[in-house]
Amino acid sequence: MTDSSDNRVLVTGASGQMGRRAVELLLETHAGRLIAATRTPETLDALRDKGVEVRRADFDDPATLEAAFTGADRMLLISTDALETPNRRLTQHRNAVRAAEAAGVRHVVYTSSAAPVPTPESSLINDHYWTEHALGASGLDWTILRNSLYTDFLLLSLPQAVASGQLYSATGGGARNYVTREDCTRSAVGALVSATGRSIHDITGPAPLTQDDVAAIVSELTGRPLAHTALPADALREGMIGAGVPPFMADALTAFDVACARGYSAIRTSSVEALSGRPPTAVRDFLAAKIDALTSAN
Ligand SMILES: NC(=O)c1ccc[n+]([C@@H]2O[C@H](COP(=O)([O-])OP(=O)(O)OC[C@H]3O[C@@H](n4cnc5c(N)ncnc54)[C@H](OP(=O)(O)O)[C@@H]3O)[C@@H](O)[C@H]2O)c1
Repeated sequence: MTDSSDNRVLVTGASGQMGRRAVELLLETHAGRLIAATRTPETLDALRDKGVEVRRADFDDPATLEAAFTGADRMLLISTDALETPNRRLTQHRNAVRAAEAAGVRHVVYTSSAAPVPTPESSLINDHYWTEHALGASGLDWTILRNSLYTDFLLLSLPQAVASGQLYSATGGGARNYVTREDCTRSAVGALVSATGRSIHDITGPAPLTQDDVAAIVSELTGRPLAHTALPADALREGMIGAGVPPFMADALTAFDVACARGYSAIRTSSVEALSGRPPTAVRDFLAAKIDALTSAN
């Protein structure tokens, strides 16, 4: 680790939730020059007013990326949300890695996912595996952050589960170490300002939880009964599609549960504290602050 306040730091995807928060945190902690790169520079006038240089960067537009990254020493490469079209996201990430190297960026921090593996078909996890591979094959230094599933994601399914009293998953009793987006962002910022060399960190919460554990926590917090039912993966996917979840998203969410059932999501590390300087937030504490959201579907 090194103090890097002389470095020029660039954040891609700066209008997304993690990107925006990362720039805010950098404004609080990093004395050096900041560059916010986004597809929509017009949405970041507030950052410009605070002295941040705002640039346009779209990973689908590779010819423009080298110029967009030029002048940055260190870069937070935030994985995109382009999951709908097979392999599009992987192409985007490869474009970004290539451009970072051509632009003279020295260190890239990348937001990967737990246990990335290659898959025969296009998939979320395949994108991360091959993006990590592209970084490894480059001349860049890098920090790969394998973010566990966001605790925040529970708020997409739990309100409906609380209303019906039923929580469904295909985790097969496997445990998952949820981590908040805020903890992922703080860890990314920590790595961005100070990591050196090449390293991989699993970014996890404080303790893996099964879906039975999650149901028990939510019951206790809301005072309402909530039972967890373990389903086969196909049944979970069909149920989500029947409920209106787009197929590409149902595929991604089912794959997360299958990985969990296989034991890939139960990793516990001290990386959040090491990188961000504070311990990760427990699921119970995160949800306790969101009681209104949990009971909003009633
Ligand atoms: N660990 C988890 O549970 C979890 C959950 C959800 C997502 N993620 C991943 O983590 C990333 C950050 O999370 P988030 O919550 O901040 O997501 P988000 O708010 O949905 O943001 C999506 C991000 O994708 C960027 N993006 C989309 N298309 C792009 C393109 N063509 N070129 C460059 N950037 C592009 C956006 O940047 P601009 O709009 O500024 O261009 C934005 O930063 C997500 O994009 C996704 O890859 C992880």
